[in-house]
Amino acid sequence: TTPPAIIRQLLAWYDRHHRDLPWRVTPTAAAQGKRTDPYHIWLSEVMLQQTTVQAVKPYFAKFLAAWPTVADLAAAPTEDVMAAWAGLGYYARARNLKKCAEAVAEDHGGVFPDTEDGLRALPGIGDYTAAAVAAIAFNRPAAVMDGNVERVVSRLYAIDAPLPGSKPLMKARVRDLTPEGRPGDFAQAMMDLGATICTPKRPACAICPLRDHCLAFAEHDPERFPVKAAK
Ligand code: ADE
Repeated sequence: TTPPAIIRQLLAWYDRHHRDLPWRVTPTAAAQGKRTDPYHIWLSEVMLQQTTVQAVKPYFAKFLAAWPTVADLAAAPTEDVMAAWAGLGYYARARNLKKCAEAVAEDHGGVFPDTEDGLRALPGIGDYTAAAVAAIAFNRPAAVMDGNVERVVSRLYAIDAPLPGSKPLMKARVRDLTPEGRPGDFAQAMMDLGATICTPKRPACAICPLRDHCLAFAEHDPERFPVKAAK
């Protein structure tokens, strides 16, 4: 079945304007049969959780140079992993990274589980990482929710209910939007749109591929969303 116009427009925009990130297989490369490596996607998504794309890039390269496979990371001394992580912050992530690599290497023969539930059962993998790896590495229709995606979806549907209570509603909307054919590209398109166009302040609605579908734009006040609970 043909996806709705909103999805076609978002994916067409992503095909032209996606950010070239080292862990991404671009649509062009994918068309040539190149596949994403779940280890790369997992590593990048753990690093990206509290850290910007620009800061992550050199660390991602350093980790892959030192430990080309998840089994290599599992076998590495914990001190070496912690030392390589130094500067990225939130060190619990590094300890969990190592634990997760050990679980994949020892309990799964070095192969990442290919479902959201299977991934979430690994140590240190929560809802976000499970959904991101399932969607991006395995093309599962998982709803990948982060701050950027929440902002995009809350504006698209002018969701008046405040965060954090509105999270389940937002997730349901994203799940409904997620196309069967390209769930990984859809998730990354939503993240890129939130990072580059649907920004917290002064969003670039004039060049937004979703403008014609966006209720917040129609109401002339995109910055009102996402609504946050009064402190
Ligand atoms: N932020 C976290 N993961 C991302 C991804 N895969 N693409 C763009 N931004 C991200």
